[in-house]
Amino acid sequence: MPHKNRKSAGSRPKLSDPLTPYGNRPMVTPIVNAVNYEYLDFEVLRKITDGEVDGYTYHRDDNPTVRAVERAIAEMEGAEDCVVCTSGMAACSMVYLTYLRAGGHVVMFHDIYGANYKVSLILERLGVEITWLDAANWQDVGRALKPNTQLIFLETPSNPLCKVIDVAAIKEMAREVGAMVVVDNTFATPYHQNPLALGADLVVHSATKALGGHNDLMAGAIVGSAEHYDKLWFTRQAIGTTLDAYSAFLLERGLKTFELRAARMASNAEVLAEHLADCAGITNVRYPGLKGTEDYAIAVRQMHKGFGGMMAFDVGATQEDAKRFISSLQVIYHAVSLGSTESLICIPFLTTMLYMPPERRTGFGVNPNTVRLSVGIEPIEELQADVDQALKKMKG
Ligand SMILES: Cc1ncc(COP(=O)(O)O)c(C=O)c1O
Repeated sequence: MPHKNRKSAGSRPKLSDPLTPYGNRPMVTPIVNAVNYEYLDFEVLRKITDGEVDGYTYHRDDNPTVRAVERAIAEMEGAEDCVVCTSGMAACSMVYLTYLRAGGHVVMFHDIYGANYKVSLILERLGVEITWLDAANWQDVGRALKPNTQLIFLETPSNPLCKVIDVAAIKEMAREVGAMVVVDNTFATPYHQNPLALGADLVVHSATKALGGHNDLMAGAIVGSAEHYDKLWFTRQAIGTTLDAYSAFLLERGLKTFELRAARMASNAEVLAEHLADCAGITNVRYPGLKGTEDYAIAVRQMHKGFGGMMAFDVGATQEDAKRFISSLQVIYHAVSLGSTESLICIPFLTTMLYMPPERRTGFGVNPNTVRLSVGIEPIEELQADVDQALKKMKG
């Protein structure tokens, strides 16, 4: 067993920069798996704990591999800083735990990722009042606000129907009561939309999705000002939702190709949405880039370089029709999640919304035969041909 006293002090590596003890800088951020760090002396410890220098003591507090990816995501969203955590739902929950109080009120939309509904049941138990709105009626937010409204939580485009909410207009309304506006930007991605620039106070991501992009890691990110970073860091350190270093490394690697992937997903999705809108047997195609709708008018104002890779549509007349269609696909995978290199399709009624009471699943436009499609980076001709052959089989 090595003992530190067996080595002369002079033979120890210099640790002035823990990321570059190699003489030259490694081409990729090293995966630092250490849980704890040897204190070089009390003065270094003081500087780290007082925040005078970036340094590390214990993994639940911070980790250099995680910190590197936080800086990269903050830059993509044009933010001062970013807190990365174990999953998208950890990110949402950290926001609720940090900013909500018993006796407070929050406005949420039915059209957000289903697990938020489960978290809302916990929040109610803790004394938080919740008003649920349909994202199609986002103008009603003004009427829903109360003097004790602390937070408005929204997704745009929304999950799964891709409804578009005017973030700047919501912020205007929120100002009246001093409520924070938090936008889950997972569907849009920072390639197409930067909610902080539109007035949002915080942006949340399931980095499991397009930021990672390869179906091989779970992570969440919360992006905002340095002041918010401090508050959210406190929560993460307290409850222990710090991401592991290996997932942070994978996430940083995913970010290197993120823009290429996002551009391809969006151009594929635009062609496919227009194609599907012309297909017999497909109705209610919902894609923010389909011209002529009110959603499109807002999307053009607040999104850029396209409209993302997410869409929803109804197949045939029944859930059996939708199941037959999905079962016949050969290129597009029948799986949950989104934003990955592969195209993924699922029936929200049976998956992401399964745990909601049935009336809540259908009350805002999701039908039993609605499918959600996350378009990947495959050749568009292959995707189009796959949809066409599956539709033919469904009818046959
Ligand atoms: C829009 C959105 N936000 C948050 C989440 C939760 O992310 P995670 O699965 O990483 O916890 C999801 C998951 O699908 C999502 O689609």
